[in-house]
Amino acid sequence: MKSFYITTAIDYVNGSPHLGHAYEKVLTDVISRFRRQMGDKVHFLTGTDEHGQKVQASARKQGVAAQEYVDKTSAEFRALYDRLDVSYDDFIRTTDARHKQVVRQVLQKLYDSGEIYQAEYRGFYSTRQEQFLQEKDRLPDGAWPEIFGEVTEIVEKNYFFRLKKYQDWLIDYLKTHEDFIFPKYRHKQVLEFLKEPLNDLCISRPKERLEWGIALPFDENYVTYVWFDALLNYYSAVADKGLWPADFNVIGKDILVPPHAVYWPIMLHAFGLPPPKALLVHGWWLQSGAKMSKSTGEAVSPLALVDQFGVDAFRYFLIREMNVGQDSEFTVEQFLVRYNSELANNLGNLVNRTLNMTTRFAGGVLPAAEPGASTDGLEAELQAGWAKTGPEIVSLGEGFQFHTALERTMAFLTATNAYIDKRAPWKLGKSTEAKDQALLRTTLATIAEATRLAASAMQHVTPTSTKKIQAALGYTPAATWRDDLVWGGKLTGAKVAEALVLFPRPEKKPAEKA
Ligand code: MSP
Repeated sequence: MKSFYITTAIDYVNGSPHLGHAYEKVLTDVISRFRRQMGDKVHFLTGTDEHGQKVQASARKQGVAAQEYVDKTSAEFRALYDRLDVSYDDFIRTTDARHKQVVRQVLQKLYDSGEIYQAEYRGFYSTRQEQFLQEKDRLPDGAWPEIFGEVTEIVEKNYFFRLKKYQDWLIDYLKTHEDFIFPKYRHKQVLEFLKEPLNDLCISRPKERLEWGIALPFDENYVTYVWFDALLNYYSAVADKGLWPADFNVIGKDILVPPHAVYWPIMLHAFGLPPPKALLVHGWWLQSGAKMSKSTGEAVSPLALVDQFGVDAFRYFLIREMNVGQDSEFTVEQFLVRYNSELANNLGNLVNRTLNMTTRFAGGVLPAAEPGASTDGLEAELQAGWAKTGPEIVSLGEGFQFHTALERTMAFLTATNAYIDKRAPWKLGKSTEAKDQALLRTTLATIAEATRLAASAMQHVTPTSTKKIQAALGYTPAATWRDDLVWGGKLTGAKVAEALVLFPRPEKKPAEKA
């Protein structure tokens, strides 16, 4: 069994989770489920990033101890991911003892081997971004961009990691590992960034300025810079499991350069470990063109849609709408369009037509298709359509093109619904002629098989609905998912349910904002 280790970014816990966080975890879950279906032994890690200035400030604002604060907010993130059926194998918190211990070991080794040194630092510091800024970060008029919040000049002794020394190594690594970043066009962005000389990375914060962090093992007056601490989660969670390197670190485009594409591979290399095999970089969910975030207060509550429309509808929308890597506009209107036309009218309708007509015309037991009953080749046409679509679902999934795979599945469902309209089984049911009865049985067998196949094709996106459809069709999944995807009259003799409510009409229009 091929092992497949995949991670998400770990979320900052200085606020509540929003759609952007939810999307990344659902995307990674869809990939994980897909790889498991393909037979891989998956290890899926997610978690929360709990140290640093912002968290310390949020806790103080609420008048609670930092640990108490992070316990509460981390649990909120975790509860959301459980609610969203995110099938993580491990949830790491950067306040876990296991993580802190590994971070300190890594730091000590880097310090002992001379990769970390102390020096005086004078610079402009952004509290919001928790980073020192450079002159090139200024706007043409000399002001600091809005995203940095308040910027202050400080002078202090700090510890530095020798980033600069590895610049050429990294450039060479990127040039010889063209698959390191998905989508490929982001590769260029990193090489572009590396055209400028790198500075060594300040990896410490004096305790008088920031207490909430992992103390440096070689100087307890300092805590570790939050990015240096956070990035190591991908390794600390599996240090004792022999799973490094990860197959994919899944992240949003805002944290590619410099943390994941520059600091992270260099940190690992300096420590003596290989970089992750690849970074999968997704785009942003936007609302009216702006990234949704806690700081701009534009966050949509993901739970509001989940409660009203169900987990699978929410997962379906996120995956159907977003081309992995690009940005997508989020609107409730578009959600409703997809929900009504694709889930309710296309999939839901087909399921119910199948169950209803099997109950009405075949006593609820699926008949076998009868070769020769059809003279116009409609069944063969539908089957031929699937013979193309089935393998495409697999290859598109392997390339993270889940949105296109869902589009293909929807087209197959549309064709199946159109087939029913052409066959008009309700008319065949009224006829007592043997050939009409044979065609009716063939029709029922065909639509049930098509429904089963479409449900299997969506399994990693809509796991609960797929299970419900399989149960309603009296189908026990095959040993492997690939077998499930083969058209094979697998439902002959199965007893079906009378009806299944999957995607009911919404009772009221959902609120756009939480
Ligand atoms: N804590 C860091 C990550 C450390 S990883 C070692 C962080 N946290 S975050 O909470 O700000 O973001 C977590 C993830 O959510 C990031 O990958 C980020 O790109 C993603 N998203 C946050 N807002 C987003 C959207 N509006 N749309 C899609 N994803 C975005 O960064």
